[in-house]
Amino acid sequence: LFGQNTLSLQTDAANITIEKEIYGHFSEHLGTCIYEGIYVGEDSEIPNIDGYRKDVVEALKALKVPVLRWPGGCFADTYHWKDGIGPKDERPSIVNVFWGGVTEDNSFGTHEFLNFCELIDAEPYLSINVGSGTVQEARDWVEYVTSNNQSPMTDLRKKNGREEPWKVKFWGIGNENWGCGGDMAADYYANIFRNYSSYIKGADFQKVICGPAGNDVAWTETILSGLKNKTALAQGLSLHYYTLPTGDWDSKGSSTDFGEDMWFRTLRNTLYIEDYIQQHLAIMDQYDPDRTMKLMVDEWGTWYDQLPGTQDGFLQQQNTLRDALVAGMNLNIFNNYAERIRMANIAQIVNVLQSVIRTNGPQMVRTPTYYVFQLYNVHQDAMLIPTELTTENYEYKGEAIPALSASASIKDDVISISITNANPHKAISVSCTPGREFTAVSGKIVNGDAITDYNDFGMEERVLIKDFEIEKTSNQELEVEIPAHSVVLLQLQVR
Ligand code: AHR
Repeated sequence: LFGQNTLSLQTDAANITIEKEIYGHFSEHLGTCIYEGIYVGEDSEIPNIDGYRKDVVEALKALKVPVLRWPGGCFADTYHWKDGIGPKDERPSIVNVFWGGVTEDNSFGTHEFLNFCELIDAEPYLSINVGSGTVQEARDWVEYVTSNNQSPMTDLRKKNGREEPWKVKFWGIGNENWGCGGDMAADYYANIFRNYSSYIKGADFQKVICGPAGNDVAWTETILSGLKNKTALAQGLSLHYYTLPTGDWDSKGSSTDFGEDMWFRTLRNTLYIEDYIQQHLAIMDQYDPDRTMKLMVDEWGTWYDQLPGTQDGFLQQQNTLRDALVAGMNLNIFNNYAERIRMANIAQIVNVLQSVIRTNGPQMVRTPTYYVFQLYNVHQDAMLIPTELTTENYEYKGEAIPALSASASIKDDVISISITNANPHKAISVSCTPGREFTAVSGKIVNGDAITDYNDFGMEERVLIKDFEIEKTSNQELEVEIPAHSVVLLQLQVR
């Protein structure tokens, strides 16, 4: 029965958890991500709960967002958290120098973010200002947010209306400190990290050292060697990788107006991340042979030219079926590296870059990327099943990428297999052997009619999750035809 494309699962070898934080998100003070996208204020005519948009809260709850990173991004290394606490009319404003030069009123600060995380049941991930802040300021933030001590910072927190500390496990020590986060040399930053690290302490803290972008192995090498046998100070190394269709930051490519050429290049470029992951993991192995430090891919996703007519620096782009494929392919890779990848955060949650939600005044849409995250939710905290995939290529003008990508997990006697088909012309048949007998099978799919399809305001959604019929002809193997340009989830009941 085996054809050219086969997927074989070693279900009995499943012994690694896919941390739910791999399905994480990122929210920066950038464009309309926070203000308008998440927070409209209590006096807004847009229905809200304590100032948070009701529609967005409901959509994010349904998505099961496991972790949310804030306040940046580049913004984080300009942010002074004490400006964002206390009575709102007394808070000073801040100019968002990296993103459009807009003046923000600081009405969304530490309390508003951490309470939002509680509302949508997500773990908070705070990014500390290392570029323009101080160690004392960082230490005070940790005390203010997480401490039970009696101290000036906890008194201040209580005065501001929060008696109990919040639970914050993830702490980023700076962001892109090789660039917008202070333009530091790698050995200098390694020392800065050690310095901050000695004051940022708490039970179960996971501290993330600023890692590279893309394949910058020199940065990884230098900061890890700079830790001088103190790699245990960092539980995570961050990795940022953005997918640009053209690979050129000056002309990235349109988010809506593209043909097969840009489709192919986008999907080819997105797959480079696996190679980068391997390169950084190899360096981590040298300095941390026990593998206690994990990779945190805390910024990833597509980055296109801004939509015509939108404000400079707001990074607004459309989200099409192409983004659904990018999401599915990346999440399959992250699942398959679950042993080493502890977290990943797509950029960014609402209205910015590859967002899962877009808003326009009182309107809201869920993007194709939203539906892929929802489809893949079943992998959160499930056991990764090692897989072997043999796939034909998708060829375009003399270049080729694997047509299919896949990952699989098991939880509560259900095997979940996610498969993407990058070929925009051709359905591809694949023979799956799940390694256990199964009694029932069901399927779901995210697809559209055209590769440029997207969901727009005031229209019925076009790219969303639909049922996918599968014929069960045996208890041990499955022949499934994965439609062109689609993301599919198969679920098998194994007892
Ligand atoms: O996500 C947008 C920006 O991309 C972030 O602020 C920065 O960290 C990265 O360069």
